[in-house]
Amino acid sequence: MKVKLSDGRTIPIEMHKVRVVQKATLPPISRRIEAMEEAGYNTFLLRTRDVFLDMLTDSGTNAMSDNQLAAMMVADDAYAGGESFYKLQDAVKKVLGYEYCLPAHQGRACEHLLARALVKPDSVIPMNYHFTTTKAHFEMQGGKVLELFQKDALETASSNPFKGNMDIDKLVQVVAEYGTDRISFIRMEATTNLIGGQPFSLSNLKAVREIAQKHGIPVVIDCSLISENAYFIQQREAEYNQWSIARIMLEIMAQADLIYMSGRKSTCARGGLIATSNPEYYQKLAVLLPVFEGFLTYGGMSSKEIEAMTVGLYEMVEPEAASASADLIEFFVNRMVERGVPAVTPPGGLAGHVDAGKFCAHIPQLQYPAGALTTALYIVSGARGMERGTVSMERDANGKEVPADLELCRLAVPRRVYTMAHMEYVVDRLAWLYEHRELIGGLHFVQEPPVLRFFIGRLEPINGWGRKLVQAYKADFGDV
Ligand code: F0G
Repeated sequence: MKVKLSDGRTIPIEMHKVRVVQKATLPPISRRIEAMEEAGYNTFLLRTRDVFLDMLTDSGTNAMSDNQLAAMMVADDAYAGGESFYKLQDAVKKVLGYEYCLPAHQGRACEHLLARALVKPDSVIPMNYHFTTTKAHFEMQGGKVLELFQKDALETASSNPFKGNMDIDKLVQVVAEYGTDRISFIRMEATTNLIGGQPFSLSNLKAVREIAQKHGIPVVIDCSLISENAYFIQQREAEYNQWSIARIMLEIMAQADLIYMSGRKSTCARGGLIATSNPEYYQKLAVLLPVFEGFLTYGGMSSKEIEAMTVGLYEMVEPEAASASADLIEFFVNRMVERGVPAVTPPGGLAGHVDAGKFCAHIPQLQYPAGALTTALYIVSGARGMERGTVSMERDANGKEVPADLELCRLAVPRRVYTMAHMEYVVDRLAWLYEHRELIGGLHFVQEPPVLRFFIGRLEPINGWGRKLVQAYKADFGDV
């Protein structure tokens, strides 16, 4: 929630009490540079004992509520027919309005099942933007991803409240060009992850739905961050200002034939699910579930997490939960802008994003500006972000580098974990780094895995800039 102060400022305010805490430690910069070198200039390879603020992801790192933890204590561990599953099914009916639900161990497992059941070889899947695991699964099944984003979606400094919208004209063209039979389904991602957590509007989703229905094409929504997308619709789309998040949620769901989600984000639990009211899709998926995930009533999830996800579904439509991370991100992004740091605007869900292409304009794209900025920020702050740029791309069939559309340093804001003071600290170190940006150089791979290289690849700073950055920092702050 946000609250207006008497001095005119609006600040995010926590609508929860912190009653369990986990100690954080900030290792001095002399240790942080060593840790970065040990991690091969890849923040995925850092150990958390060396991390002060873990802003790598909001996936599975959110603070759970007391009610979620309590529910975990009454889980039913039965292999088949467990009551925990039926509670989940009830929540899916009430919150999302779907008849059937299939639990799976996490979001990419849902994508795998969906790809096997619905992606036809030589078909296309139009979407507002891809996600790494989504694209991998759909392509492994012989499908081709078509990204139909609007022309300003990739402009990082923008005032467009719905940069996650699909370009409807392009969709019409795609339907005409490929024909209905070659389109497996249309996929809409709630707060498009890779372009800065940017939402779609309900009117855009309805326009997509109208075309899909006219041509008999199914609509699938990736609901991993659906709670935040619903909140942005309420805040930014005039027609829905007076609607509750719960009502907006049902209206979104009414536009889709099937949805799936990583439960690790909006529902603050570790799992995933697919939901639909279409018996044909359900049957196709239900035969695959026991083969790849587990029996229908647990799908590879621990029953404790099923209980937590159930409560998380009810809670994600409460205004306090839906706004918790989004409002802190807004504060974070606004402070970056005020301090002159090139942030992605408007603020989205999931994270505050820094435009590394602008921040490190002196670093050629194939020397990975986003990777360089993300590692430099860790060195000067102990905050661990995630590279979302060319390092996160796959080489093409000929082994050539594919430059990313955007070079972003993503600083995730897990739900209910960090405070304004944490954000202020990160903004300050970013602003310092921006003043000293010439000290940041490029990176090159020393070990490059053939697939999803960003996870475990190892890199080195070109001309050893890491140690020089440490010297400049120590001159201003000492060994802290
Ligand atoms: N779809 C979206 C939009 C996601 O953001 C993610 C995961 C997935 C699918 C896959 O779900 O991790 O449960 O298997 N995003 C994480 C992130 C990894 O850090 O953004 P998963």
